[in-house]
Amino acid sequence: MKIAQHFRDTNDVTLFRGDCVELLRKIHDESAQLVVTSPPYNVGKEYEKEVTIEDYLKFQRVVIEECVRIVRPGGSICWQVGNHVNGHGQMIPLDILLHPLFAEYASTDVIRLRNRIVWHFEHGLHCKNRFSGRHETILWYSKGDKYVFNLDAVRIPQKYPGKLAYKGDRRGQYSCNPLGKNPGDVWIIPNVKNNHVEKTSHPCQFPIEIPERLILALAKEGDLVVDPFLGVGTVAVAAVLHERRVAGADIKEKYLAVARKRISAAIAGHLKRRPFGQPVYQPKPNSPLTTSPWIARSQPKSYFTNAR
Ligand SMILES: C[S@@+](CC[C@H](N)C(=O)[O-])C[C@H]1O[C@@H](n2cnc3c(N)ncnc32)[C@H](O)[C@@H]1O
Repeated sequence: MKIAQHFRDTNDVTLFRGDCVELLRKIHDESAQLVVTSPPYNVGKEYEKEVTIEDYLKFQRVVIEECVRIVRPGGSICWQVGNHVNGHGQMIPLDILLHPLFAEYASTDVIRLRNRIVWHFEHGLHCKNRFSGRHETILWYSKGDKYVFNLDAVRIPQKYPGKLAYKGDRRGQYSCNPLGKNPGDVWIIPNVKNNHVEKTSHPCQFPIEIPERLILALAKEGDLVVDPFLGVGTVAVAAVLHERRVAGADIKEKYLAVARKRISAAIAGHLKRRPFGQPVYQPKPNSPLTTSPWIARSQPKSYFTNAR
């Protein structure tokens, strides 16, 4: 499998260095099955210049217009975002601002919001003047009312797989789907912090499992998946692992260099990654790490003592 620098329909993998709009304009109308991306949040990270929120949305509008154009009927667009924080320390959830840009295409291109997925993670900054942020969202839009959604590919184990139907024709039989349950719209997947096996030099990469679930559910083998803001290639890695074609752009060569290495490792079968579907780690109770040094065992039960 070759990693190309310039887009052609026949490429398995394209990593374009430059502005994503330039890449998107090379992709034919209605030729991609899926766009999955996490754009910059306009919060002054090393890869972005903070601009007014109006200018930020103006650029997002151009990118979204191109994505709507390249996705075919039955395909999907997934936009993964968090919050922008303005000069007054006021939090602005970006999905609230971005949804109207997608909704503009409701009547012309049948762009429909199917889920607003909450991605919950347990670690991050500890805030002093508000509750610490522990979730981001994914807006999933389909193009058209008939769209690819392969739920069986992303089912997860049930809580009570041994549950029996208690009435009706199926009384006494197992009531659960043997393939597992729908994962729901709250996804609990660890974010990529320093000790995460997938961590690279990128300050804001997402875990492979996020695009992987979306790709498995919303695109078939051989389909084209596009990420306009590729970073270190997490979407590309997930696509390659599951035999989808992929095209992505980033303005920073240093991220694309990491992306190339990760994709090559995925192709060769030795990519380091958190296994798909692995439950969130639960530390052992009564170990030094999970025992508070400040709370005496004789104290009344509280949040801090219940676990003992
Ligand atoms: C939130 S990060 C994406 C991280 C990615 N999901 C990953 O897991 O590695 C956004 C990326 O968009 C890139 N970027 C910013 N402006 C861009 C543009 N106009 N065209 C292409 N990429 C851009 C940044 O360099 C950054 O790597």
